[in-house]
Amino acid sequence: MRGIVGALAMVLLSGATGVQAQKCEELALTPPMGWNSWNHFECTVSESIVRETADAMVAAGMRDAGYRYLVIDDCWQGERDADGFIQPDPERFPSGMKALAEYVHSKGLKLGLYSDAGWTTCGHRPGSRGHEFQDALTYARWGVDYLKYDWCDTDGLNAEGAYQTMAAALTAAGRPVVFGICEWGDNRPWEWGKAIGHLWRTTGDIAPCWDCEVDHGDWSSWGVLRILDMQEGLRVHAGPGHWNDPDMMEVGNGMSEAEDRAHFSMWAMLAAPLIAGNDLTTMSEPTRSILTNREVIAVDQDPLGIQGFKYATDGALELWFKPLEGGDWAMCVLNRSASSQRLELVWQDEDVADELADRQALFKARLYRIHDLWTGNDLGTTRRPMKAEIAGHDVLMVRLVRVLDAND
Ligand code: GLA
Repeated sequence: MRGIVGALAMVLLSGATGVQAQKCEELALTPPMGWNSWNHFECTVSESIVRETADAMVAAGMRDAGYRYLVIDDCWQGERDADGFIQPDPERFPSGMKALAEYVHSKGLKLGLYSDAGWTTCGHRPGSRGHEFQDALTYARWGVDYLKYDWCDTDGLNAEGAYQTMAAALTAAGRPVVFGICEWGDNRPWEWGKAIGHLWRTTGDIAPCWDCEVDHGDWSSWGVLRILDMQEGLRVHAGPGHWNDPDMMEVGNGMSEAEDRAHFSMWAMLAAPLIAGNDLTTMSEPTRSILTNREVIAVDQDPLGIQGFKYATDGALELWFKPLEGGDWAMCVLNRSASSQRLELVWQDEDVADELADRQALFKARLYRIHDLWTGNDLGTTRRPMKAEIAGHDVLMVRLVRVLDAND
């Protein structure tokens, strides 16, 4: 029976090569969680950093909180050998990727790698263009479980076709791999990525700042609020097995504690992949406790897989809602400004409807217990109005727990 269910969940499609790609839906029924080397280490990533990070993921309680994939981003690559097989950089990865994958697996974690659909990666290493099947086979032999596939140096390529080719190559290699489409939203991947990959970047790169644009010449990276604003209109495309990816997190990379908390909360409201991007071996206790907040993670990982939405704006405050299983809701009030803001919510004034998911928070007819996900306190019920003060660049995030009555 399991075999039949598994077969049904495979999405069949023809790759540009004529080889069929079979996407394994079950690999990402909730948004992938893990760590990626790029945001903190960029091109300095090495085998020792990966091993120490694997140890830290376990010691910090991140593995037990749900973080699974340890993804080595750009710059792990060395040269191709005489037969075209990619080799890891011999100085940074002297023991090779197979040994590293074995180490990561021995910790109960999974290993991810990065490549690029073009001739060279964004960090000017060999890309997979023309070597897709050979690279996918190499990754399978090494024991790789996740591939982030970038879009540098792709002039003249069709994005959907290029990603389909690698999806077909991964299928042919025979190892189940989470496939992350990273083409920055340039070719509207939310319209075609669902059949090909498990997640797709919706924007250019994130930067560790609240509301900034970092100018790199011919491209920009963006602060948390900028990236958040770029998600508008995309929630219709996300769901179990296929997620909008607003980029890896910058928690612990230099923003204030409030900003990190707000960033993490909003990524959970978006049902975003939760990919930490900080140095796990030296992180502070506040950073660790943000990244391992299980009640916030549960909002992100809710089995319904419904991406949250902005319900209302009131000056600097934004009110976001996300339907959860069992009739619960997550609510997050985001304070975009630097000064603290007061809020009064009279719950029974209006119901909240998610028309897309056909779910309603019926505040007039039903009762919800209000549970603060950052303090762990209960704040009463929706029977009475709620007053709150939200610090600058911070959030109030609560779970509205459905209280069943006699009619349920
Ligand atoms: C691009 C991606 C980043 C990172 C770098 C690596 O900019 O969007 O996430 O992978 O390339 O060079």
